[in-house]
Amino acid sequence: MISIQGLQKSFGPLEVIKNVDLEIEQGKVVVIIGPSGSGKSTLLRCLNVLETPNGGIISIDGQQLDFNKPVSKKAIAAFRRLTGMVFQSYNLFPHLTATGNVTEGLTTVKGLSKNEAGEIAEQLIVKVGLAEHKEKYPYQLSGGQQQRVAIARALAMDPKVMLFDEPTSALDPELVNEVLRVMKDLAQEGMTMAVVTHEMKFAQEVADEVIFIDDGVIVERGAPAQIFTNPQHERTKRFLSLLQ
Ligand SMILES: Nc1ncnc2c1ncn2[C@@H]1O[C@H](COP(=O)(O)OP(=O)(O)O)[C@@H](O)[C@H]1O
Ligand SMILES: [Mg+2]
Repeated sequence: MISIQGLQKSFGPLEVIKNVDLEIEQGKVVVIIGPSGSGKSTLLRCLNVLETPNGGIISIDGQQLDFNKPVSKKAIAAFRRLTGMVFQSYNLFPHLTATGNVTEGLTTVKGLSKNEAGEIAEQLIVKVGLAEHKEKYPYQLSGGQQQRVAIARALAMDPKVMLFDEPTSALDPELVNEVLRVMKDLAQEGMTMAVVTHEMKFAQEVADEVIFIDDGVIVERGAPAQIFTNPQHERTKRFLSLLQ
């Protein structure tokens, strides 16, 4: 479903993603862990082409961008629609209700009528457990509720892959589970997902594979049980020991 070959991303002289290769099969959930500044967000942002890689080839669902050559803005825009991204900060439109946030992209980007968009939004709002809150504005919602709107908004665009960048890191502890619950449901429905998170319990329960990234390289990858109980690399051991 996702194939990354030789991905490179630098910011000026700083090489942040160093020749990364990665495959993610359809329907699999990959959890990405690693120290702060190791390149986790940049990797997800390259998949969503919020950052333009300096080199490498990314394929998603049979479509390919080759960053070893010039890539057109049009190709990037089309490619971006293959992935839905959820950020630590929910980034909702403050002047739109929960429903409005979900319908916005459907009417402006996908060109659906208000009615068509409303029907899709209704289903997604129910799916993320916010039926009673659909007419509320972001400021009237808790962080967990706002993040669930953000997930519904991303899903509305019908992405092939969902990317989550520390989706629960800004939440009060008691609100974390309601967001993880929605993510678990998505995983169970077969959504292909790449998730950067510090929620190791979620990783253990939901991930098909855990990837440990440090200093722009994939140091180690494996099943959660393998990575968490029997890491092979010193750097992985050190990182995991700091989490306890
Ligand atoms: N837009 C940017 N401009 C310059 N440096 C950046 C930018 N984004 C990230 N970086 C740097 O790239 C490195 C990796 O960042 P990031 O991918 O955010 O790491 P992580 O998500 O693992 O904490 C860090 O050193 C960070 O300061
Ligand atoms: Mg990050």
